[in-house]
Amino acid sequence: KSFIFDALDDQARQELANFSYVKRYAAGDKIFTMGEPGQSMMAIAEGTVRVTMFTPSDREVTLNDLQAGDVFGEIAMLDGQERSANVKALTNCTLVVLERRALLDVLQRNPILSVRLIELLCQRVRRSDERMIEIAFLDLPARLAKLLLRLTVAPPASEEKPLAKLSQSQSELASMIGNTRENVNRCLRKWQKAELINLQDGWLIIRDRDRLEALAHGE
Ligand code: CMP
Repeated sequence: KSFIFDALDDQARQELANFSYVKRYAAGDKIFTMGEPGQSMMAIAEGTVRVTMFTPSDREVTLNDLQAGDVFGEIAMLDGQERSANVKALTNCTLVVLERRALLDVLQRNPILSVRLIELLCQRVRRSDERMIEIAFLDLPARLAKLLLRLTVAPPASEEKPLAKLSQSQSELASMIGNTRENVNRCLRKWQKAELINLQDGWLIIRDRDRLEALAHGE
């Protein structure tokens, strides 16, 4: 399922498989803690994991959610230093663990695998740069509007236009944009009054995508 490994031929893939093993985690389990030593990289076979960091005031900020086919742990695996972030299981997860020694061996003989890992790191740098700019230069409403739009796909243009719904809690949304639950709650209540969204039975329902788009662009 992973673009990292689909470049390998069967023999190299078999070689990697011989040195890998499967590890299962239950929803909520810690997988990595930032600062601990790391000697392996994980590929997600099933489930979702969340990558986070703690702010100096101990608030947990989400960097990314990763799904089946994604890999993580490549940073400590490649540079031999500490884990750069925390990773926890959001759902029950099945992971394939690849140890540094075996992986470096296969990397040396399969340069395409190195290229794919470099591409992965490039994607992550691009995304981190975008986020840094958003956090530094966009206000909370713009960041929150961007997030809601990113988490929901625009409904197909049809007569009834089904409304997009989100199940994330307000704390989770706050963690994804590096802000507090209280501020997010205040902003969502304002938007509910203005009929941009509805907060109903634990769901957040998008009512006016166009106005959210305008807010996301700082209008
Ligand atoms: P590593 O540092 O070994 O352990 C933590 C992992 O979290 C890291 O490797 C990456 O795989 C992953 N990670 C760190 N920062 C990000 C990010 N901004 N986006 C996605 N994944 C990340």
